[in-house]
Amino acid sequence: MIVSAGRLWLLTTASSGYVVRLDADDTPRCAHWGPPLTLDQARDLPPGAEELPVEGGERFGVPALQLRYADGVRGAEWRFLGEELDGERLVLRLADRHYPLEIGLHYRLRGEVLERHTTLVNHGDTPITLLRCDSAAWSPPGREAWRLTHVSGEWGGEFRLRRTPLPVAETVLTSRRGHSGHEVNPWLMLDAGEATEAHGEVWSTALAWSGSWRMTVRREHGGGLTWSGGHGHDGLTWRLEPGGRAETPVFAGVYSPDGFGGASHRWHDYLRDDRLRPVVYNSWEATGFAISPGQQLALAERAAALGAEVFVVDDGWFAGRSSDRAGLGDWHADPGRFPDGLEPLADAVRALGMGFGLWVEPESVNPDSELARTRPEWILGQPHRRATQVRNQLLLDFSRDEVAEWALGRLDHLVGRYGVAFLKWDMNRPVTEAGDDVWIPYIRNVYAVLDRLRAAHPGLLVEGCASGGGRADPGMLARTDQIWTSDNTDAAQRLAIQHGYGHLYPAATMGAWVTDSPNAQTARITPLAFRFHVAMAGALGLGGDLLRWSEQELAEAAGLVARYKEIRPVIHRGRLDRLGEHAVQYSHEDRVVVLIRRPSTLLPATAPVRPRGLEPGAAYRDEDTGAVHHGAVLLSHGLPQPLPFDATSTLTRLRRLR
Ligand code: GLA
Repeated sequence: MIVSAGRLWLLTTASSGYVVRLDADDTPRCAHWGPPLTLDQARDLPPGAEELPVEGGERFGVPALQLRYADGVRGAEWRFLGEELDGERLVLRLADRHYPLEIGLHYRLRGEVLERHTTLVNHGDTPITLLRCDSAAWSPPGREAWRLTHVSGEWGGEFRLRRTPLPVAETVLTSRRGHSGHEVNPWLMLDAGEATEAHGEVWSTALAWSGSWRMTVRREHGGGLTWSGGHGHDGLTWRLEPGGRAETPVFAGVYSPDGFGGASHRWHDYLRDDRLRPVVYNSWEATGFAISPGQQLALAERAAALGAEVFVVDDGWFAGRSSDRAGLGDWHADPGRFPDGLEPLADAVRALGMGFGLWVEPESVNPDSELARTRPEWILGQPHRRATQVRNQLLLDFSRDEVAEWALGRLDHLVGRYGVAFLKWDMNRPVTEAGDDVWIPYIRNVYAVLDRLRAAHPGLLVEGCASGGGRADPGMLARTDQIWTSDNTDAAQRLAIQHGYGHLYPAATMGAWVTDSPNAQTARITPLAFRFHVAMAGALGLGGDLLRWSEQELAEAAGLVARYKEIRPVIHRGRLDRLGEHAVQYSHEDRVVVLIRRPSTLLPATAPVRPRGLEPGAAYRDEDTGAVHHGAVLLSHGLPQPLPFDATSTLTRLRRLR
């Protein structure tokens, strides 16, 4: 609910309150972000930090908006123009006191989440240079200490959770890579050092942007904390032409009065939809680039027998693509490997009862491709600079509309011609040698192509990928169904990756395959059930070389896929509670599923695992053993740990009796 009261606005959700107020000189300030307040209480608040700090006057913090007018003058002096209030949406319209610049501060309540972004309009006849144009700045009430929670990582080791005391300094989280990044992900959580999974105040924000970004957190000597974030990395500048309008991505915020788990619940509710994701088989780890119709069909037959619902041919199906040295850009079936085209395979996959899926990397091009030879002017680069190749590939300049149109045309053709049900959209290299005017329009065109493709093919599912989890963010998740979380499919290592991913993103969006043992990346040997119990925690997929699995393994896998489908509504639609690093609980309606995975006995994890949120007075039946437990006993004494060996796991299914 949003209430407007003169020069004060009160935005309230079920468990949070946010108060914006105008100063005597029209500067907008955040007077409160925390538990809900009444209007009376809100009138009593001290002024608070700026909603969108600018340069000028006695301001020495982090500017969210940094601009230069044509005459060299910088900063802004605020003038309030008016409000637009429409249900759960509010726009505060402001302008500079002198220069013809209009600034809109936009607010939208969606459930427990407050979405914010900024718009700028240049009403003058000279350009304005933007050095920084953040979506929003955030400021909780002051506390003695602050602690930062975020994820960091690398290829094969994305989303590792970090929780560290915040220094009295400016701390920057950023990606300069043109995608949201393996190294860090565009969200953060802050608490006063006391919050736990289930208790304590946590303030968190996430940026819906899939390109470069920056968030700067400033902890002051006196306990104050503000952070500002938005698209673009340091050093990028934009021009706002006369008559031009700029709109930043959404930077959303969540206040949780009940710990990190409470923050995650609210983010999951916001980022989740109700659809159940299919069990996907993907042939990449099994066959790499060496693919043939016969071998893909043989895999498809086994995948179908295991219960897979979609069969995805990964890299290697298109013209010239027998290694990563050639072919990107030439999106038609390789005539050597698929002399009859892809239709026979696609038809056979459908005849087996599965959807047909394809891997694509529309933004990239190998120098050794027809596309690079015929359209060299489409390749992203700068004069007098080397063209950096990563994985032997360059990027197309997606900021150019004709390139985006071409990509949309190719994808639309592939989806229509082969009846593609599932597209894995990959991006295997960062952006380099790009001018200032490329970075932001590039991502907007990636979004536009995805949006238009999906509008034209409403049933199409899309998996977002950038060498694993390099481009996972709320912006990408708004237009994809799931994310390929990591190229690392070692179940033991996946636990940490999934633990971090799940802090913000819902389980239904977390692509997770069961692959071979020994694992292709780490050579670790693990039981099949352990691998399943890790991958079942998200959108289960299969990625092993099924032609080498024994009859016994295939039978066990078929049983586990069936079991997963039976609990899938609980996993995909339920509330996720983390019960330590290695155990997760999903609760939906009268059902509870607990997965406990013990990767190594070297870790001290022998205490019973205590579920959360059960009704103490209710009885719960274990759906496998039939035993009936009291909620109060389960809450207090927990479930036993799996056997004390490496890579052991249990799956417990409880149903509340009434
Ligand atoms: C990336 C993806 C992998 C696979 C390969 C294919 O690395 O993350 O899953 O699709 O590309 O080249």
